[in-house]
Amino acid sequence: MNIHTYEKLWLVAAMVLIVGFIATITYGSVALGITMVGDQEPTVEPGELNDDERFGDPGVEHVGENQYDAYVVAQTFAFRPEVLEVPANSDVTFYVTSRDVIHSYSVVGTNINTMVIPGEVAQMTVEFDDPGEYGVVCNEYCGFNHHEMEGQIHVVPEDEFTLTELSATAPDEVTLDEDVTIDVTVQNGLLDDIETEVTLESANETMETTLSVAGDTSEETTFTLEASELGEGDHDWTVTADGEEVSGTVTVMTDSEDDADDAAATGGDADE
Ligand code: CUA
Repeated sequence: MNIHTYEKLWLVAAMVLIVGFIATITYGSVALGITMVGDQEPTVEPGELNDDERFGDPGVEHVGENQYDAYVVAQTFAFRPEVLEVPANSDVTFYVTSRDVIHSYSVVGTNINTMVIPGEVAQMTVEFDDPGEYGVVCNEYCGFNHHEMEGQIHVVPEDEFTLTELSATAPDEVTLDEDVTIDVTVQNGLLDDIETEVTLESANETMETTLSVAGDTSEETTFTLEASELGEGDHDWTVTADGEEVSGTVTVMTDSEDDADDAAATGGDADE
């Protein structure tokens, strides 16, 4: 059978294209690690993310030496957390899911990009070498404010990176003869031990204490102010540690006001 030269050429060209397509897809999935979303991760219930162990309080977790996990929830029209802080010289594995419709998590100017599908957890590991700031956008059309859906990744110098969480509780009201007790908890999310200065500032004094907090644990400390020194009225207080800040207001009342309150609360039986 005689095949025309041009026909042979077309046959060869078609073969080359087919082999080329297969090679490209194979290269993408094997060498570049491009995968389908949800390939390796178990699914999640989009309506129950608030109760989810990983996505209830999304953020960064320290999981090993220079290794971090970052949990992100995409929703109309924001990323939670909006700003993700990670240290330089680290490997960060992102786990991203959606609360509602299809979004994407795309870091501008890099090849970090994934589709975010409700029910599925997109996973990708990224190496951050140098400090810098990156913008994150959603590039799947998700609704009328799609163009405003954005986030940030701050890569901070290693020695400036902390995962400290600070909480403090104090009474709202005390009487002049009482103490104001401010209980402070410092939680260290890093696997390494930290030493941190905890400072209490009130209207008339500043107190400081140093806390050593072992990796992945928390420590407590207490500051005590004397209401009589503060004097009657509202007083603001602020506790700081590791760049975190918690503040509140305590009201110091005269004893007579308190007596009146007590009497009202107990139905006027105060003089028993
Ligand atoms: Cu989310 Cu577009």
